[in-house]
Amino acid sequence: MKTIIEPFRIKSVEPIRMTSREEREQILRDAHFNVFGIKARDVLVDLLTDSGTGAMSSLQWSGMMRGDESYAGAESFYRFSDKMNELTGFDHILPTHQGRASERILFELVGGPGKVIPNNNHFDTTRANVEHSGARAVDLVIHEAKTPSLRHPFKGNMDVQRLRDLIVAEGVEKIPIVMVTVTNNSGGGQPVSLANLREVRAVCDEFGIPLFLDACRFAENAYFIKQREEGQGERTIREIVRDTFDLADGATISAKKDGMVNIGGVLLIRDPELAQRADALLILTEGFVTYGGLSGRDLEAMAQGFEEVVREDYLSYRIRSTEYLGERLLALGFQIIEPPGGHAIYVDAGKLCPGIPSWEFPGQALVCELYRQAGIRTVEIGSVMFGGGGNPPPLELVRFAIPRRVYTQSHIDYVVEACGELYERRDRIKGLKIVFEPPYLRHFSARFIELR
Ligand code: F0G
Repeated sequence: MKTIIEPFRIKSVEPIRMTSREEREQILRDAHFNVFGIKARDVLVDLLTDSGTGAMSSLQWSGMMRGDESYAGAESFYRFSDKMNELTGFDHILPTHQGRASERILFELVGGPGKVIPNNNHFDTTRANVEHSGARAVDLVIHEAKTPSLRHPFKGNMDVQRLRDLIVAEGVEKIPIVMVTVTNNSGGGQPVSLANLREVRAVCDEFGIPLFLDACRFAENAYFIKQREEGQGERTIREIVRDTFDLADGATISAKKDGMVNIGGVLLIRDPELAQRADALLILTEGFVTYGGLSGRDLEAMAQGFEEVVREDYLSYRIRSTEYLGERLLALGFQIIEPPGGHAIYVDAGKLCPGIPSWEFPGQALVCELYRQAGIRTVEIGSVMFGGGGNPPPLELVRFAIPRRVYTQSHIDYVVEACGELYERRDRIKGLKIVFEPPYLRHFSARFIELR
């Protein structure tokens, strides 16, 4: 296979400040072993998230100069909504400031006490917005998703039988919508097939329940469909994207992912009556319907970002570069969620550090060691994020998320080298103890001390 090169040249650069191991040791202590407390200038390679951290293109930047900042009916809004309409077929397109703003509006409309929202896996803000409305969030991903080493082409698929059982057990009236997250971030960035979406749609039709997508990474999902799903290989990404959205009655989108912007979101709704109620809520907290809490220039950047993300040369570079990191880590001996996801690689830290029990946070211990050793910032998705409150220990994962168009292959090779050295010393990684935690979302601000 030929090398897949980055399909862009670099016009503008941002320096990285080099740090020594001694400096990082002090920084880590000052941050109480929580990388959310580390200043970005003290990070060498920042893989904390792929959200809002991408590099914009020269056309996106020039679009920003064109931004029409009119309060109502700005040209920029129409360029944005025409682009979204062209890609998704939806007519009612609301801009929001980010994904969770779309979620808040949606669940204020359809959620509430007694309601149940099924999803393949709720992302944490989606779950929080469902629960904030008083409703219950239920995850119904296929059982294959629970074993990291198990390879399945569409490991983000929903278990359709469990969906049907849930609807029958709870009663249709309790289930206002069914949601599917593409790709499934909480489940390893794994895709959902068109066939699975069609099966979910059929169940929704049978019971008269609308289907909504959490479509943050719709383009990456479409690329996996093209590569892996029977009969899809010759179709264009745009056709697959259109098929995906045609199956849905609505979607929440964080444009900070496949919108290729640093801030922005979208809410799509087909039902005119529900859309009108969403307009009213948007005006209440985000802004008028033609700007939704964003500036005209943000809308221009989104319009261009959604155009660039469906290009095949971009997507093949994107998916291949994530896969490259995954393959190299597997070759070193790390267990990752297999196959590699679209936007991130998830390392099984529980398997890497069997001597560290869940209550000493093996994932967080690995996150700290990666920072100390090489200045790499990742994020724990394990017992710190989901533990406590008597829940059984989850998989102890560490996510290496790849910002879009930001790092080159040598940055990734550096990450791989650091991981190789760390793998050899894995027995010496130290567990942690929590010495402070807030009442909610403790991973953002918990403080730790190192044990032994
Ligand atoms: N849904 C999914 C699947 C997400 O991954 C995210 C954000 C959101 C919704 C919320 O969007 O941040 O724009 O409000 N994920 C980021 C991450 C934060 O790091 O995975 P937002």
